Amino acid sequence: MKILFADNYHSMSRKAANIISAQLILNPHSVLGLPTGSSPIGTYQQLIEWYRKGDLDFSGCHTVNLDEYVGLAARDSQSYAWFMHQNLFSQINIDPANTHLPDGTQTDAAAECQRYNDLIHKLGGVDLQFLGIGPNGHIGFNEPGSAFEKETHCVALTESTIQANARFFASSDQVPTHAYTMGMKAIMQARKILLIASGAAKAGILYDALFGPITPQVPGSIVQLHPDITVVADQDALSVILSRQPQQVSGRTPC
Ligand code: GLP
Repeated sequence: MKILFADNYHSMSRKAANIISAQLILNPHSVLGLPTGSSPIGTYQQLIEWYRKGDLDFSGCHTVNLDEYVGLAARDSQSYAWFMHQNLFSQINIDPANTHLPDGTQTDAAAECQRYNDLIHKLGGVDLQFLGIGPNGHIGFNEPGSAFEKETHCVALTESTIQANARFFASSDQVPTHAYTMGMKAIMQARKILLIASGAAKAGILYDALFGPITPQVPGSIVQLHPDITVVADQDALSVILSRQPQQVSGRTPC
């Protein structure tokens, strides 16, 4: 595991975007696993900027997103499909047919999860899985207690996740109660993982995920077992790790 230091959110975003760019340059046909949330927005902005400068080409790649709210259509402004359209896909030269998310409008959960698993397998799995981490350690929407061996499944969101994500909705009672999420099994099968974290609110959970016991109670903790994971986090998110495991943190140079 490599843990790279970033001064702030902007620097974290640039370092993460550099790693994604390297992946795309080395393999233009990469399958990228993508997250939503506040954490990756800066990375997506940086990738868009480099694309506009002519440094990046997304025409050959595929994307698979981690998750989608059950009940929301892609055109719903709160859906993750809409988030991805607004924050990345509409601003780069990716073929919309190559962008994939679970379909939140599908009511047959088993069939939709099977379709998404089959799609990921058909694409040959994920080359680079980009991840954020939720305040309770969730990855995608794999909430505490989710079995590590699961593939795409339907989850009931915990109250703390509903409250954490309420900031994107008019009120917390508008946050969907369920989501389709890639499971930890598919995430762990990605060839590389890039995990980002920003802000003091993530400092405790980032320490627990990277240095605590590996347990379904902290879903992100399983990434400790991945053979090729890079973590990029800002100073605030690294504060607990820097106080207890400073020798594990590298990359204190600008990027
Ligand atoms: C949501 C997403 C996760 C994301 C998490 C953290 O719950 N399903 O994939 O990692 O939020 O979001 P943020 O980056 O806004 O803290």
